[in-house]
Amino acid sequence: MVNTKVDLCGIQLDNPVMAASGTFGYGYEFAELYDINVLGSFSFKGTTLKPRFGNPTPRIAECSEGLINSIGLQNPGVDKVISEELPKLAECFDKKVMANVGGFSIEEYSEVAKRLGECEQVGWVEVNVSCPNVHHGGLAFGTDPQAAASVVRAVKEVVRKPVIVKLSPNVTDIVSIAVECEKAGADGISLINTLLGMRINLKTKKPVVANKMGGFSGPAVFPVALRMVYQVYENVKIPVVGIGGIRTAEDVIEMMLAGASAVQIGAANLTDPYVCRDIVRDLPEVMKKYGITDLKEIIGGAHNG
Ligand code: SIN
Repeated sequence: MVNTKVDLCGIQLDNPVMAASGTFGYGYEFAELYDINVLGSFSFKGTTLKPRFGNPTPRIAECSEGLINSIGLQNPGVDKVISEELPKLAECFDKKVMANVGGFSIEEYSEVAKRLGECEQVGWVEVNVSCPNVHHGGLAFGTDPQAAASVVRAVKEVVRKPVIVKLSPNVTDIVSIAVECEKAGADGISLINTLLGMRINLKTKKPVVANKMGGFSGPAVFPVALRMVYQVYENVKIPVVGIGGIRTAEDVIEMMLAGASAVQIGAANLTDPYVCRDIVRDLPEVMKKYGITDLKEIIGGAHNG
């Protein structure tokens, strides 16, 4: 018997496999395909104060080993998430869910985080200071250590549950941002969000996505994400959630050796909606193959010592 249980900020997960925000809707959509209770948990679509239609279309560009998205935080707004989406999720998911919060001002982050943090189903609040697809929001806070810390401080004042900050790789020094977020009271760090990228259509000779650029994710970013998880783990004491290009149980183990306490699967859900279920299924076998009996024991195992 192997033990896949891990702890994320004081909440026990049956396994470290979570679906990443923006790739798993509000969960119930995937519950039509399989029992989503097999997951450790998931992070639901980034939610803002008001409903958002998102960016103009086209918003997706295919790439080898990944894709570019420029969704622009499309979501029904916090009122509808609480009154309509979370009740639907309650019918098919018994575990705590991670609430992903977007915003365009510190006040908005704080208001949305407060309201979602008060929902019984919500176990963690994930503050997204890293969306590359909106102007004056998201990334504007996540590229400056002090701005990111200000968001964390404001959210921590009003949320009584663990606050996890989702960081962007589009910076020169992700460690300094993680460290400031920890000092400001963050309970965990999740990384990485998408890498800013673009494609150009050779026939039209224009950018493929209407917003010109978007966030690149998928298997190609895995080594970058792994490197950043490794670096952040060495410099903070709070748990790290590893995100970026994960698509197999082997990738999960590699991320945990780099320092992740749990992982989120993103782009892979878009090409294979069963991928999270299959990773959970494969994990015990892959653990046995590599002589691992307890997943908790391998967290950060690739570091010195
Ligand atoms: C989006 O809605 O544009 C994606 C969310 C994100 O990248 O944070």
